[in-house]
Amino acid sequence: MWSVEDSLSELEALASTAGADVVGTMIQRLHHPDVATYIGKGRAQELGDLEKQLGFDLVIFDDELSPSQQRNLEKMLNARVIDRTALILDIFAQHARTREGRLQVELAQLEYRLPRLTGRGVAFSQQAGGTRSAGAAGVGGAIGVRGPGETKLEMDRRRIRSRIADLREDIENVREQRSLHRRQRAAQAIPVVAIVGYTNAGKSTLFNALTESEVIAENKLFATLDPITRHQMLPGNQEVLYTDTVGFIQKLPTKLIAAFRATLEEVIDADLLLEVVDASHENAIEQSETVNDVLHDLQIGEKPRVTALNKIDLLDDPSELDLSLYPNAVPVSALKHVGLDALREKIAQVLADSMEMVQVTIPYEKSELVELFHRRGRVVLEEHRAEGTFLTGRIPRTLEGYYAPYLEF
Ligand code: GTP
Repeated sequence: MWSVEDSLSELEALASTAGADVVGTMIQRLHHPDVATYIGKGRAQELGDLEKQLGFDLVIFDDELSPSQQRNLEKMLNARVIDRTALILDIFAQHARTREGRLQVELAQLEYRLPRLTGRGVAFSQQAGGTRSAGAAGVGGAIGVRGPGETKLEMDRRRIRSRIADLREDIENVREQRSLHRRQRAAQAIPVVAIVGYTNAGKSTLFNALTESEVIAENKLFATLDPITRHQMLPGNQEVLYTDTVGFIQKLPTKLIAAFRATLEEVIDADLLLEVVDASHENAIEQSETVNDVLHDLQIGEKPRVTALNKIDLLDDPSELDLSLYPNAVPVSALKHVGLDALREKIAQVLADSMEMVQVTIPYEKSELVELFHRRGRVVLEEHRAEGTFLTGRIPRTLEGYYAPYLEF
């Protein structure tokens, strides 16, 4: 179970990722949030006193605040007040790399801000805010207002709406292009392995280690927002495409899921999911459950799966890991390049298991089909016979049509 404390320490990590310097945290347990101020009035007063002592300029609440709660708290606290959603959006704004990522983030930010303009006219430059019974206070500079610049924030609602409509249209166009690329890839039938996992589990590091590429790995949450894809060979010479995706997180507001749909689309289309779990984290199991929940929400919980139990270099005794808790688990250290061959072997095996077993005799004039079988499938037996090349092995279902005329049974 995630405790309030776990959630709060994650909020702290998120705040640091966004560039805040956390000076204190506070928890209040209430049966019902206060309608006007979310936390109780007494607590709000306490926070105000603390502000005078510590001089923080930002309070981040770990849950979504209503626009009026946000406003009331800002009036009382002499500090900006934001919520978890605004914080995550801010991090997204910093990390979006592709055009689609940036469009998605701007859209999500404007949608978040639109209802918060009510009653405040356009004076949004006075800042926005959010809260719940747990919060972190810090010195956070521009957190929560990064992304669309100050001038954009002052647009009136009509202009924001029209910008939202434009953004939706642009995103649709970019998405069509992406789906074209995906269709081309599917036609080549290169299996796609999507690397998923909780934020900071080590996805980018593993992606780099497996593909020997240089993607920035940072000890920050959400360093990866847009999908990156690379080719690699598996044992048995099978080609695969690895794609790195955004980190999952607990309590990710549903609205924000659309903001990284770009990476989730890669996951939905993948042939195999490679889940990275930070095995050294005390909440490893909860984190993996969160990832599972998101995968089930996307209706892809049943896809072939391999689990990389990462960061075993930090464990006193890696042999104590309970591999049976995760599907097809392989202990690895992405950082120290430990266990990578076993992981590749497992990926190749699980991919092969998800393919169709066939026996075919390919006439010698169709040698390109033999070559395709080797590249995209897994050959178990190959014999040169009078009528052609006899092959037993597994091929991706998408390629079955090519081999149908030559099936032996
Ligand atoms: P997000 O982009 O936030 O989702 O993170 P990520 O899952 O891509 O994690 P990333 O690869 O950026 O790694 C997060 C931190 O964990 C970095 O500081 C890495 O150096 C560290 N890390 C990754 N793999 C290992 C490992 O095997 N051992 C150790 N000790 N640290 C690791």
